[in-house]
Amino acid sequence: METSLKRIKEDIEKISSFNATPGHGITRFSYSPEDKQAREYFMQQFELLGLKVKVDGVGNIRARLGGADPDLPVVMSGSHIDTVLHGGKFDGVVGSVGALEVVRTLVDSNIKTKHPVEVVIFVEEEGSNFGSSMAGSKAMIGKYKLKDIKSIKNDKGISMYEMAKNFGLDPDKIEADVIKPDEIKAMIELHVEQGGVLDDEKISIGIVEAIAGSKWFKIEFEGVPNHAGATPMHLRQDPMAAASKVIAEVEKITKQKAFSTTVGTVGKIICQPNIPNCIPEKVMFTVDVRDVLPKGIEIVVSEVKKIVESVAKENKVKASIELMGESDAIKLSKKVVDVIEQNAIRLAIDHRRMNSGAVHDSSLLASVTDVGMIFVPSINGRSHVPEEKTDFEDIKLGCDLLLAAILDLANYRNTIKMQ
Ligand code: GLV
Ligand code: MN
Ligand code: MN
Repeated sequence: METSLKRIKEDIEKISSFNATPGHGITRFSYSPEDKQAREYFMQQFELLGLKVKVDGVGNIRARLGGADPDLPVVMSGSHIDTVLHGGKFDGVVGSVGALEVVRTLVDSNIKTKHPVEVVIFVEEEGSNFGSSMAGSKAMIGKYKLKDIKSIKNDKGISMYEMAKNFGLDPDKIEADVIKPDEIKAMIELHVEQGGVLDDEKISIGIVEAIAGSKWFKIEFEGVPNHAGATPMHLRQDPMAAASKVIAEVEKITKQKAFSTTVGTVGKIICQPNIPNCIPEKVMFTVDVRDVLPKGIEIVVSEVKKIVESVAKENKVKASIELMGESDAIKLSKKVVDVIEQNAIRLAIDHRRMNSGAVHDSSLLASVTDVGMIFVPSINGRSHVPEEKTDFEDIKLGCDLLLAAILDLANYRNTIKMQ
């Protein structure tokens, strides 16, 4: 029994055709018309397979294939289908399609596992709307309550709560939809690596042992807008000059004071009024800090806070720092990692263990169940860009390994025991 390369390819190409900006990679934000099309595509597939589908208050989809014992906890697999602005077609989609393909293969082969198997499609993983990544899985595990989804807002001031409601969902019920630990036996997510390790070493499969934690901040400097020609340098209160000093320090601090695993990024900057001959009034930028070692994040965050304070004084501008979102560094389940690895050995698939620098919904699920992740290579290590690419043969290999691991976790053959 194996998954179908043809179907996997057709699914990924079809979902990529639901795209807001053809020609500039893929832009498919949660709650957008193209997200709706992609969701409808999955719903059609689930219906064809006769799965029982539940959609929670913020739009996370759970589609269940019943097991021989319907009361046993589910083995869950899936990922997200939202993208960053001008992103690629593989991030998230590979794991969502992978889980669908596993269930399709089980149905086609008339396989009844003991535990039910569930495909999960998380909403709003990227944080593209509200600047808070993994908002859907945070709601699913109860980390985000009703008040949280009302307080996170997009650049136009519209909250996740309002967007979900306008999308036809019922966000008032999110707290009732929270997943309970006894509903779920294990979660396993297939994903593209998004870094260059596997491609560089020409290895098709990564087995993830840890997922980095993250903190996202919004830093804002407010100065006094004024004429760029007529205002002498010593009479300025320039928020851009202040921002530039902090931005340069983010790179320096991360490289020099933290660890080799720590990364710090300023990826978004907004300047008002953004005209060449005016000292700006306000400059807002984001700082994204990540590490598998929590201490690395702490070091960068505390140093950046100090610099923001001192630069605000030096440039006579007001400063504010707001935490937009965070997730903990997570060690994945040794039990699930072992099941994946033993299946990779059994299937003679070249593999290595590794960490994930990117964050994933799976790290949230780790607080309620045993979690594992399978990586497939990103060509040239590129991701969150239109050039993001993974060989379909590698994706199929990842799907076959996912299928084998799910069969074991759902107690089909019991060839490999999860202790
Ligand atoms: C999500 O892909 C992230 O790691 O930012
Ligand atoms: Mn992703
Ligand atoms: Mn991503």
